[in-house]
Amino acid sequence: MTTSQQDLAIVAMPMDMEPAKRLADQLRVPLISVELGRFPDGETKLHLKSAAPTSILYCSLYAPDPKIFPLILASSVLRRLGSRSITLVAPYLCYMRQDKAFRQGEPISQRVLGKVLSPWIDHIVTVEPHLHRTRNLDDVFVGVKTTALSAAPLFRQLIGRDDIDGEAIVIGPDEEAFAWTKAVAEQAGIPFATMSKKRLGDRDVKLELDPAISVEGRHVILIDDVVSTGGTLAAAARLLQSRGCKKIEALVAHALCKESEIAKLKQAGVSRLRSTDAIPHPTNAIEIAPLLADALRRELSL
Ligand code: R5P
Repeated sequence: MTTSQQDLAIVAMPMDMEPAKRLADQLRVPLISVELGRFPDGETKLHLKSAAPTSILYCSLYAPDPKIFPLILASSVLRRLGSRSITLVAPYLCYMRQDKAFRQGEPISQRVLGKVLSPWIDHIVTVEPHLHRTRNLDDVFVGVKTTALSAAPLFRQLIGRDDIDGEAIVIGPDEEAFAWTKAVAEQAGIPFATMSKKRLGDRDVKLELDPAISVEGRHVILIDDVVSTGGTLAAAARLLQSRGCKKIEALVAHALCKESEIAKLKQAGVSRLRSTDAIPHPTNAIEIAPLLADALRRELSL
C-alpha cells in the first residue's frame, strides 16, 4: 500500500526536534512538536495539536528512562487523534546490550523494553541496534514491523571522503563487529579483520588480534556500533599501538561516551573519533537523516 505525503507527519519529542527536522526536510513532510510539561505533582503533562493518518514518532532512545513513558503517552494521543499507523523512529535503541541476565537476579532488559513499547507502535525503525545473542529485532518487538538499518553505507561514504594515510585496514574490536567491518571494508576496497573480546567488567575488556594480521605502519580504521565507556576502543588502540600501527581513528554509529572518555581515547592513541548524529554528541560527523529517509520512502512506499 502506498502512503501519500499529505497523510504523513513527523512528530518529535522536544529534545529530538533538530534531527527530526532534518528528516522532515528530506521527506518534505510536516513536523509536529510534542509539547511536554509537568503537572504540579511531577507527573508528565503532554499535548499534541494534531496528528496525521500515518505518524512517524521520532525519539532517539539514549538516556532512555525519562523518555519511555512520555513516548507511550504521545503514541496514545496519536491514536486518539486518528493515526492509523505509528512508526517509531528511534535511531538509537536502548537496552539492546542487556540481552540476557548476565547474573542471577538481573532483568533481560531488551525483552522488557520490547514488551513495553510493542503495544503502542506498528513499526520501529532503528540504526545498528545491538543484535548479538538476539539476531532479529522481530524477536524483541513481537507483532511489530521492524527495520534495523546498517550504518555501513554511511561509514563507507565518510571513508571515501577521507585522505587515507598510506596502507589502511579496517578493524572491528570484537566478533560482533564482523558484519559491518566486512561491509565497509569490502565497499572501500580495504582489507579488514576483527579482534576477539572478553569483557571483564563494565569498563574493562581484554582484546586479542590474530598475530598473523600485520598492522605495522598501517592506518587503522576501527569501527564499532557503540562507544559507551570507551573501554573497548581504548583497549583496541593500545593493542594496535603495541603492534606498531601508524595511525588509528575510530568510527561509531552511536557515541554515548563523556568528554573525559574522549580524552582517554586520545591518550590511548585514537587520533579522531567520529559518530553519526543518531545521538547528539561532540563527535558527530555523519548525518543519518538520508539513511532514515531512504528507508521510510521504501517501507511506506512514498
Ligand atoms: C559491545 O559488544 C559493543 O559492540 C561495544 O563494543 C561496546 O558496547 C562498547 O562499550 P564500551 O565503550 O563501554 O567498551
